[in-house]
Amino acid sequence: MHGAFVIFYCSIMSNEMSNEAQNQFQNKAQAWSARFTEPVSELVKRYTASVNFDQRMAKFDIQGSLAHATMLESIGIITAADLDAIKRGMEQILTEVEAGTFNWSLDLEDVHLNIESRLVELIGDAGKRLHTGRSRNDQVATDIRLWLRDEIDTAITLLDALRGKLATLALEHADTIMPGFTHLQVAQPVTFGHHLLAYAEMFGRDIERLQDCRKRVNRMPLGSAALAGTSFPVDRAMVAKLLGFDDVCRNSLDAVSDRDFAIEFCAAAALIMMHISRFSEELVLWMSPRIGFIELADRFCTGSSIMPQKKNPDVPELARGKTGRVNGHLIALLTLMKGQPLAYNKDNQEDKEGLFDAADTVRDTLTIFVDMVEGIKVNADAMRAAALQGYATATDLADYLVKKGVPFRDAHETVASAVRHCDEHQCDLADLALDDLKSFNPLIEDDVYQVLTLEGSVAARNHIGGTAPEQVRKAAQHILAG
Ligand code: ARG
Repeated sequence: MHGAFVIFYCSIMSNEMSNEAQNQFQNKAQAWSARFTEPVSELVKRYTASVNFDQRMAKFDIQGSLAHATMLESIGIITAADLDAIKRGMEQILTEVEAGTFNWSLDLEDVHLNIESRLVELIGDAGKRLHTGRSRNDQVATDIRLWLRDEIDTAITLLDALRGKLATLALEHADTIMPGFTHLQVAQPVTFGHHLLAYAEMFGRDIERLQDCRKRVNRMPLGSAALAGTSFPVDRAMVAKLLGFDDVCRNSLDAVSDRDFAIEFCAAAALIMMHISRFSEELVLWMSPRIGFIELADRFCTGSSIMPQKKNPDVPELARGKTGRVNGHLIALLTLMKGQPLAYNKDNQEDKEGLFDAADTVRDTLTIFVDMVEGIKVNADAMRAAALQGYATATDLADYLVKKGVPFRDAHETVASAVRHCDEHQCDLADLALDDLKSFNPLIEDDVYQVLTLEGSVAARNHIGGTAPEQVRKAAQHILAG
């Protein structure tokens, strides 16, 4: 079997491509076959072409082709001379692509046909043998996976860096007290470091999700050909190894039509952007002069063309806004796939722009945030002043009574009465004289003032996950230690 292929293929090989054959590839109304008698209209050509956006996968298309060609040579389908020519041609094509001199043609529909056509132009018949045992269907699925794998690795690196910046700032502000909110009402004091580390947790889960998604991205469709596999004795494991895939896709029909991995990435990207958006919302609020907890560096803000006093947090606002487009891409991909019968359908070409944009948005946003978090200036006095309003230590007073033997529900009621009293007298719980406090419950002693302070309140929550400065320092150091 093996030998027969070699003989067959060697007999039809020639290293020089006739001009006629070359023209045939170049001048056809469409690139794919002689079967068609009329060209498509300009509009249909533009409508069906993907080269304007899929050319960004060129590097991966070339990588995939080189691995495929190496395998074809190893099983005797192409000669060593063909493989050399393919390598040489692809090297030149990559140089042209990177230099921006590659002549992308809409007539050649997509990145795959453009590159293949140029290869034939450069090296003749050897270039025409490259597509043996392969289809654009398994080729494009492979290219997207290679491209996405790279993007995932970049996103993970950026998320790691962002966590590092958050942890560094958290360490600096492990003792800085701010109000913690529920319902955007002052609830209990927390440390600013603790608040920042909440986002480090979210971005940590985002990393886990991407790592998990990467496992399914990193399986190779090549060898599936159009849909049914190929009659050539391909060595899929070899190609997978050359391309750094962990495994090969196990069903050819699934392999050419599966875009689950892209949907998973978009879902992970949507979650990243949702976290970014929540953080952005807080940055915007904190920067409002009414709150004034932080300042963002000028390079992330803009002024107003009419109001000279303004410094607007444009970057976090825009990041919050960009969350919408990534959510949109997720829904678009889910919808793209939901009605498709097996196997490949042209619908699948619509997978790319949204996926590319999701990855671009995540990459740009994270890159900017890494820098922006480093530039956050904290107004600890404003945070502290805000924490002193709104009876943030009321729960601590209730806990204090519980520790003196009062059932929690009764303690809760007692403190509610004390808060009401303070409201009427426009004062804080800590401002009440001991006798006033005792009038609410005689068990209250002098030591109550320790728990009514902000420092006492945060220091008391000294367990894993709590807001005590000691815990915040440990958690931040844990992140920084990697
Ligand atoms: N440009 C196409 C895509 O992005 C490549 C695969 C085309 N395959 C086909 N049978 N038309 O999906």
